[in-house]
Amino acid sequence: MPIRLAIPNEILPGERRVALEPGVAQRLAKLGVEVCMEKGAALSAHFPDSAFAGVTIIDTPQELYKNADLIFKVQPPTEAEISMMRDGAVIVGFMAPHKSEAMITSLCQKKITALAMELVPRITRAQSMDALSSQAAIAGYKGVLMGADLASVFFPMLTTAAGTIRPARVLVIGAGVAGLQAIATAKRLGAIVEAYDVRSATKEQCESLGAKFVNTGVKAEGEGGYARELTDDEKRQQQEVLARHVSLSDVVITTAAIPGRPSPKIITRDMVSKMKNGAVIVDLASEGGGNCELTEPGKTVDFESRITIHGPLNVASQTPVHASEMYAKNLFNLISPFIKDGNLVLDWKDEVIATCTLTHSGEVKSERYRRVEVTK
Ligand code: NAI
Repeated sequence: MPIRLAIPNEILPGERRVALEPGVAQRLAKLGVEVCMEKGAALSAHFPDSAFAGVTIIDTPQELYKNADLIFKVQPPTEAEISMMRDGAVIVGFMAPHKSEAMITSLCQKKITALAMELVPRITRAQSMDALSSQAAIAGYKGVLMGADLASVFFPMLTTAAGTIRPARVLVIGAGVAGLQAIATAKRLGAIVEAYDVRSATKEQCESLGAKFVNTGVKAEGEGGYARELTDDEKRQQQEVLARHVSLSDVVITTAAIPGRPSPKIITRDMVSKMKNGAVIVDLASEGGGNCELTEPGKTVDFESRITIHGPLNVASQTPVHASEMYAKNLFNLISPFIKDGNLVLDWKDEVIATCTLTHSGEVKSERYRRVEVTK
């Protein structure tokens, strides 16, 4: 019997992505997988059911989950969703394991194998499976468009009959995947771009995209190529240098994050108060609380009727077609090597599978989350 893969409707309010797109559905069918999708599950990403040739459309989530061996999802499963799953099923998606111990416990109780996309290792071989990167690139792009939309100035230099318009000044703080895409997008729109990160390796990357690197003298490389948290002295030093660059910017895009920690607070209230009238901060780190002291995640703050601080959440979902396409390909690239003759056989010795398995056979497998107590 071939395995049955289920793609449910994403129920989180505002989530427009789906974990499948027509091309990936075809490639899965070629591997012998029976692909089933909940009715209308991909409509929010503008893929009608009719675009999925060969996919079985199922009317209700109960029926879909009940018969599924493998489930592709975007958002972590809710308790209600887990309760509909078959014991021993395999689920692949973002699991946000740091947010819900209760979810991990429920997955273990049902002996569900959960592969968490956030835990896919950042190694060269796994780049095509790296959903954090594919979705962060979208956020970086979209964040700049949000900034351009909210800004009170043009981004490009314009020579018009009414005079010459100077280009906007954009500062990107945090030059990981989202930040580098933000730099590239702001440059394409014609802005003068400056960028900053605590990892010194990013200087060359920023410059290669045409941004001027801001040197604060603070270097904070942490484990695995990520940044570490700054000491109080380092924070002070960083703020002293950055304050001037923030005050000269028309738009600041912030993306700084430290794995497993709240977003570092980099832009203080005092720094905001010294910004130009009409300036904008787009805080792409809002999901982790934000890089600006005044950010209210999910809201747009109007500071003294002068400065806009935008704290968007789930930004990738706002570009649902490409976000779904890239995400579905990430899932396919992760799982397809383990599908043989329509059957799924996960290789526990494979580094990527071993690292991203959150739960399996009633146990928490990920080293990072072993502390979660599982009551059987
Ligand atoms: P992230 O989303 O965790 O953080 C964004 C950026 O914020 C990082 O560049 C980080 O250095 C910076 N940051 C943290 N604290 C800061 C502070 N106080 N001030 C200024 N900047 C601060 O990062 P992302 O985009 O997930 O990338 C993390 C690492 O993973 C990078 O080294 C990246 O090159 C690497 N990576 C490797 C891949 C691969 O080899 N397959 C794929 C994607 C990323």
